[in-house]
Amino acid sequence: MNSILDHDLVLKGKKVIVRVDLNVPMKDGSITEVSRIVKILPTLKLLIKKEAKIIILSHIGRPKGKIVNGMSLEPISKKLSNLLNIEVLFNKNEINEKTLIEINKIPDGSIMMMENIRFYEGEEKNEDSFSKKISNLGDIYVNDAFSCSHRAHSSIQGITKHIQSYCGLQFTEEINALKKITSKITRPITCIIGGSKISTKIKIISNLIKDFDNIIIVGGMGNTMLKNTGINIGKSVCDDGYKDLVGEILKKSKTHNCQIYYPIDVVVSKTLDGNGIIKEINKINNDEMILDIGPKTIISIKNIIDKSNTVLWNGPAGYFENPNFANGTKKILEIIDNNRDKNKIYAVAGGGETVAVINKFNKLESFNFVSTAGGAFLEYLEGKELPGIKALN
Ligand code: 3PG
Ligand code: MG
Repeated sequence: MNSILDHDLVLKGKKVIVRVDLNVPMKDGSITEVSRIVKILPTLKLLIKKEAKIIILSHIGRPKGKIVNGMSLEPISKKLSNLLNIEVLFNKNEINEKTLIEINKIPDGSIMMMENIRFYEGEEKNEDSFSKKISNLGDIYVNDAFSCSHRAHSSIQGITKHIQSYCGLQFTEEINALKKITSKITRPITCIIGGSKISTKIKIISNLIKDFDNIIIVGGMGNTMLKNTGINIGKSVCDDGYKDLVGEILKKSKTHNCQIYYPIDVVVSKTLDGNGIIKEINKINNDEMILDIGPKTIISIKNIIDKSNTVLWNGPAGYFENPNFANGTKKILEIIDNNRDKNKIYAVAGGGETVAVINKFNKLESFNFVSTAGGAFLEYLEGKELPGIKALN
């Protein structure tokens, strides 16, 4: 893999396309957590210093090839501008022949950010014509979005077929750290998986079973397990259609001697901004939703973590944005923290929301490493060769 550091690249006046992950948590149009933006600053500062013309490509959310109003990168370009203390030009226009003229006009050492690349259908389909079109915007390409490298999309994979490609500083840092971690892992290994990106993660769980001793499934992922084993979960966040996969997970776990845990009690409410009540999982009403794990579940998680040597965590246990539903996530952090204090476990966490939660509760120090990547982190642990890494090799 070629890094922008390895080479004595002369970049003055060169157009450098940089793919970054600006998929940050937002609420009512404001950014609630900036870790992913802060992490890309070293690469951008280096390119500014080398007087390149920087073209930023990124995404937020899953607009599925359509322009979605609430999913513009414009507020993020303003935040980046503040953090770098230079103007970041934002280009709302559709990418076409005129774009290159606009890019050519920007001064050396300055940045133009393009609008959400997932507004284009070609991006997720990895259409070669689209990959070529975006490659034409620059002279070289840099991937500094390790956390998107599990996606075989145009701006991650396809583009590298058409242009000289490198990895950025943040990308290299994440890979080196994860390589080190995978060599240090000792059993029993416990993985805690939560959050709401069910379709991505449920398949990963099935593949992790063979290597792990315990998998604890909470959050939206936990709801999906409950629903597909016949529990009424009311109007909780969930994905239907995974009955077979859930069955496969439970069956496979027996063959491989991996224990699967999901909530035995929960905190429910009728609204996201409401108060919670603790309930056994078989007592949930149709108009309620699960927003956190309950006290019995927390005790069982504590027992498992206390007996583990390695703990890997991705995805919160509940809707932590409302303090009434943050208890489960907070308790998991405390349990990890206590074990780390006694030097009993090796703890690694990853994911956009997970980083947000760890920062919110000031627990960065409780982990040996915190990755900005969620899905990519888990797929890397699976031992998969990620499309974005393969493309740079
Ligand atoms: C993430 O948040 O994991 C990355 O930005 C990738 O987003 P995705 O899961 O929507 O592909
Ligand atoms: Mg995410």
